[in-house]
Amino acid sequence: MTIPSVGVPIELGERGYDILIGQGLLGRAEAFDGLPRAAAALIVSNTTVGPRYAAALAAALRGRYARVEVLELPDGEAHKDWLTLNRVFDALLAGGFDRKTVLFALGGGVVGDLTGFAAACYMRGVPFVQVPTTLLAQVDSSVGGKTAINHPLGKNMIGAFHQPVRVIADLDTLSSLPPREVSAGLAEVIKYGPIADDGFLAWIEQHLDDLMALDPAALSHAVRRSCEIKAEVVAQDERESGLRAILNFGHTFGHAIETGLGYGEWLHGEAVGCGMVMAVELSARLGLVDAAYAQRLTALIRRARLPVQGPSFGAARYLELMRHDKKADGGEIRFVVIESPGRAAVRPAPDALVAEVIDACTR
Ligand code: NAD
Ligand code: GLY
Repeated sequence: MTIPSVGVPIELGERGYDILIGQGLLGRAEAFDGLPRAAAALIVSNTTVGPRYAAALAAALRGRYARVEVLELPDGEAHKDWLTLNRVFDALLAGGFDRKTVLFALGGGVVGDLTGFAAACYMRGVPFVQVPTTLLAQVDSSVGGKTAINHPLGKNMIGAFHQPVRVIADLDTLSSLPPREVSAGLAEVIKYGPIADDGFLAWIEQHLDDLMALDPAALSHAVRRSCEIKAEVVAQDERESGLRAILNFGHTFGHAIETGLGYGEWLHGEAVGCGMVMAVELSARLGLVDAAYAQRLTALIRRARLPVQGPSFGAARYLELMRHDKKADGGEIRFVVIESPGRAAVRPAPDALVAEVIDACTR
């Protein structure tokens, strides 16, 4: 049985758009109704996702755009860099694509972030559509307009805010996702519970096995609720002058793990999962939540087959890496902490306490 599609609006005035969530959307022409008219569309994907899904997307787009081309980039976080970004510009310029061209980012968060940044820059900005094919991208990275590439000194450090004109999350594409990637996506789903909705955390606890088995009804609910929470936060604080930072729960520690190990060693979602364990431990040691809550969240993260112990490159190295975090203010690291179940805040913490947390959560 096919579950009904849903649309989650993201209210950003003239930059507002819909997130469509459902099964079989890639092949459904109406999913593309109302997109900007243009002579050409370029689908940017990678060598893993392109061969599986680009033909279906191209077929759906051909009624709408006279010219539809596909560019396949190398796969992996290690390629979210200047060289690969430049390949998009090479293809656009060599192909004579004009400033009305619509880019379609078909893939996970790496393709989405990089294509979005290309769209923000090409001819000073062209429209783009996110077609996320990982759970992580469907619940987080495709929504909200953050686009970026990595720098060897820091993750997502070079980028722009550029909202897509639509997000089309076809749940069927998740069926080919390796289990490790499903777990990585679950980290970002779990994140929304502690920061915004304790009831959703309880729902995830009840339905984790269904989610890991890719049950369409469970996935649909998880993607919709995640997108609703993210849409609400982004609508209030599009450019992260305050509230939006709570979406980075677990990311300060997580980015340090990713950068410290070298991009691609751990998956982003794995680093975020482990980072949430550290961040909730910090929240407990700051006296904000009790130890039982920290244990509850850690148990769920472990059940999702995510790492709950970080790599042990030493507290001093973690602290050094975290000082590069975008939330850092004048060299002072700022952490997203849980103030009470379902409510987060951003605040500094003493280095010595953070070092204790790192020592306790690494091996
Ligand atoms: P990813 O894009 O590397 O995708 C994971 C792997 O799955 C890749 O090998 C990819 O080719 C493959 N894949 C994708 N879809 C598939 C499918 N349907 N079937 C089989 N294989 C498939 O990683 P990700 O976890 O999707 O995204 C992580 C990236 O997202 C990081 O770079 C992170 O910084 C970024 N991110 C951005 C935001 C944001 O707000 N912009 C938020 C969270 C994460
Ligand atoms: N993933 C964090 C954000 O979009 O702000």
